[in-house]
Amino acid sequence: MQIKGKVVLVTGANRGLGKQFAKSLLQAGAAKVYAAARDPGSVDIEGVEAIRLDVTKPADIAEAAAKYTDVQIVVNNAGALARGALVDPASTQDMRDLFEVNVIGPLAVTQAFAPTLKKNGGGAVINVLSVLSWVALPDAGAYSASKSAAWAVTNALRGELREQGTLVVGVHPGYIDTDMVAEVSAPKISPASVVEQVLAAVERDEEEVLVDDTGRGVKQSLSTAKPIYITGIPG
Ligand SMILES: NC(=O)c1ccc[n+]([C@@H]2O[C@H](COP(=O)([O-])OP(=O)(O)OC[C@H]3O[C@@H](n4cnc5c(N)ncnc54)[C@H](OP(=O)(O)O)[C@@H]3O)[C@@H](O)[C@H]2O)c1
Repeated sequence: MQIKGKVVLVTGANRGLGKQFAKSLLQAGAAKVYAAARDPGSVDIEGVEAIRLDVTKPADIAEAAAKYTDVQIVVNNAGALARGALVDPASTQDMRDLFEVNVIGPLAVTQAFAPTLKKNGGGAVINVLSVLSWVALPDAGAYSASKSAAWAVTNALRGELREQGTLVVGVHPGYIDTDMVAEVSAPKISPASVVEQVLAAVERDEEEVLVDDTGRGVKQSLSTAKPIYITGIPG
């Protein structure tokens, strides 16, 4: 699918990876980019249309879907992270909160825009998942569970939306250099590199995107006798 000439909506576009998506999409020739954010006033990207969209608020989602009927590609990028051990009962609330943002949110956005994508020729849904869809990170079990669930949702939607010609893309990065992991000292890929690889993959109609060695290594281990989700990431 060509990016050039497309109308794209990006969630969480005010900073981090989402901001990079918005900028790179314009550079790639997108006709229009709706840069969605909880606070549209926080969007400072020249050339985009800033819109209000908290992915946990059904009213925001319904309003956006009713207003922006020219959307052809949805980038479900907005996401949140919480730290803490799953065995600690305090993590249960984190689990609920993260599922709202990382699982139910992108699902609800996709449900709301699916008829628009169909009407506009099929288009694409790009879901920003994680390498943690496939392995739990110590101290981030709730986040890992949410990204596993988001992967399952992505796979289910891919099957459901294939008939209407919508390409459903799952992206599984390791660490990206954004606020989300500012305190992490491990190697990180740049947001620009992630987005460049995702857009190139979409142009080739690819349904899964691995952008770094971490993603490729974890994926490869899944079919081995000792997959990384059993051996675990050293903490
Ligand atoms: N950074 C990494 O290492 C990494 C690795 C793999 C995958 N990812 C995924 O990449 C995506 C982008 O994350 P990032 O690294 O750019 O993180 P980030 O810098 O923390 O940005 C998160 C973005 O999501 C938005 N957001 C959070 N809750 C939202 C809600 N309820 N409704 C709408 N927007 C909301 C934030 O908006 P506010 O400014 O309003 O908070 C912000 O724009 C996420 O899905 C994340 O899980 C990140």
